[in-house]
Amino acid sequence: MIHNELKAFPKDFLWGAASAAYQVEGAWDFDGKGMSNWDKFVRIPGKTFKGTTGDVAVDHYHHYKEDIALMAEMGLKTYRFSIAWSRIYPTGSGELNQKGLDFYNNIIDELMKHNIEPIVTIYHWDLPQALQDAYGGWESRQIIEDFKNYSITLYKAFGDRVKYWVSLNEQNIFTRLGYQTALHPPGIKDDKLFYQVNHHANLANAIAIKEFRKYVPDGKIGPSFAYSPAYAATSKPEDILAAENAEELSNHWWMDVYTWGEYPKSMWDYLKREGIAPQIEEGDLTLLKEGKPDFMGVNYYQTTTYEKNPLDGVTLEGRFNTTGEKGTMQDTGIPGLFKTTPNEYLERTNWDWNIDPQGLRIGLRRITNRYKLPILISENGLGEYDKVEKNGEVNDDYRIAYISTHVKAIQEAIADGTEVFGYCVWSFTDLLSWLNGFQKRYGFVYVNQHEEGEHDLKRLKKKSYHWYKKVIESNGEVL
Ligand code: BG6
Repeated sequence: MIHNELKAFPKDFLWGAASAAYQVEGAWDFDGKGMSNWDKFVRIPGKTFKGTTGDVAVDHYHHYKEDIALMAEMGLKTYRFSIAWSRIYPTGSGELNQKGLDFYNNIIDELMKHNIEPIVTIYHWDLPQALQDAYGGWESRQIIEDFKNYSITLYKAFGDRVKYWVSLNEQNIFTRLGYQTALHPPGIKDDKLFYQVNHHANLANAIAIKEFRKYVPDGKIGPSFAYSPAYAATSKPEDILAAENAEELSNHWWMDVYTWGEYPKSMWDYLKREGIAPQIEEGDLTLLKEGKPDFMGVNYYQTTTYEKNPLDGVTLEGRFNTTGEKGTMQDTGIPGLFKTTPNEYLERTNWDWNIDPQGLRIGLRRITNRYKLPILISENGLGEYDKVEKNGEVNDDYRIAYISTHVKAIQEAIADGTEVFGYCVWSFTDLLSWLNGFQKRYGFVYVNQHEEGEHDLKRLKKKSYHWYKKVIESNGEVL
């Protein structure tokens, strides 16, 4: 679809930025916070780039006023951040930690003071380790009740001021990397368990949304899904089928459940035949249908291109680029279903992520046509090396190019008929990039933090900071 003219962004469009507790806060054992699964995992040698941890991260815990002042100066309309469950309930359930609630109350009040709309993510991967130890965390149905209680505590504490909520961040990533590829905690490879854990997460997501209606009736809630739209490598029907398989198993497998409370039929049958379909109990499907979200949160970074994968083809065992050495990512797949392959038409970042703004537009249209839900782009951004010049400038023109082409693609998607009400760039300040240390930077604000040594955590506005300020001022007209 080629438009002669593009509609302007809606006048109340939420121009924003996002972060997650473990990646920014630090203060990992301050003020009564309990240990999380990430606090434990990063201490296992070899798990993260140069053994980096979020113990200090960018110390947002002690710098939040400075960070929010920078957001206000930029004119940010919304800030999405997550709550560390183990700050609120140090052991996951039971005794509440008032200091944890105070910290987030302060953040919310500070944001409101500057007219920045808070978007709260209930769960961005940091599970209280006590729940992992007690019953295997997401492996047990017990998590559903504990997640429900934790969510209700947040609704009661913050629901008077927070109107936008994200339930689970990238359920497809934390379950897959935790239980299928073992790259994230608890570092297990077990396909059957992965689908079971994911089913529990679906139920927890649904119950949290169902409860939300009682406590924050005037609010909006949805999950944030890591959507990588599937492309076929060629027009060979077998590659098209491979892409179809990937779209169903890697995307619809989650988004269909969120929206309709149903698993996609052909993939359900496939998993049944393989003996790895999740066990469903009476009442589960009813609950899933009761948890319909108000919007689909989309974290978009890239598309993935697929081709046919024979029964003796590649598996999910493949090197993941966490070093920033371009070209070190390996293709992976599921034998008999699909295999990833490079897309010769797309540039890649130094971490081998495809750069594809049109893919965002395609993804937004697919969601709109299939689910008919409004969309919050809850993450999108570029992780790259940044260099501080002698005069203190960070000239991240590559980030400006990335974000501006994606904003343009959103505007085109809006002209195509999608309803997008917000855009949260990942991220506001630099932060810890889970497995990749601090050298893979995403922020508008540079933070002097590195993998090794102690640093002063000084904040510096990058060129993209000044640029995004103008984008916001012009409501997306000046890119
Ligand atoms: C998303 C996550 O997967 O992508 C973020 O929600 C994450 O927490 C971001 O940081 C970028 O991924 P990475 O691995 O480059 O930090």
